[in-house]
Amino acid sequence: KDVDKDRDQKLQLICQHLADKIDVFDWVGFYLVDPEAEDELVLGPYVGEETDHTRISFGEGVCGQAAETNETFVVQDVSEEDNYLACSIHVKAEIVVPVKKDGEFVAELDIDSHTKDSLTEGHQKMLEEVCDMISPLF
Ligand code: SME
Repeated sequence: KDVDKDRDQKLQLICQHLADKIDVFDWVGFYLVDPEAEDELVLGPYVGEETDHTRISFGEGVCGQAAETNETFVVQDVSEEDNYLACSIHVKAEIVVPVKKDGEFVAELDIDSHTKDSLTEGHQKMLEEVCDMISPLF
């Protein structure tokens, strides 16, 4: 659909911008709730290495946990997180921020960093604002 194409272009630009501007953001992408499947995420626009995780069930990994709780999930050291899906051996920290539409979880912004303990409260606040701003796209 044209609206989806337009939205994906915008999401792609946001990923590119975040990856360009913030040094410690090494992979930036969106997972969207799959309208065809219940409680499943599907990979949307992203910047960075290709990932095997193109579909993730709610509850699975950091992404799935953020989807289930509808809350931001920050992991400063992925080696300490039991429920984690490894995309690349280089990833050391991860933040996942939900996108909500009328309070309901519709998508999430997922960011991987190659640097442990690199994700700040400032990053979190900024990313939550970004996710609030793009909610009307959904
Ligand atoms: N690490 C994520 C999987 C997605 S990749 O980072 C792109 C997780 O544990 O859910």
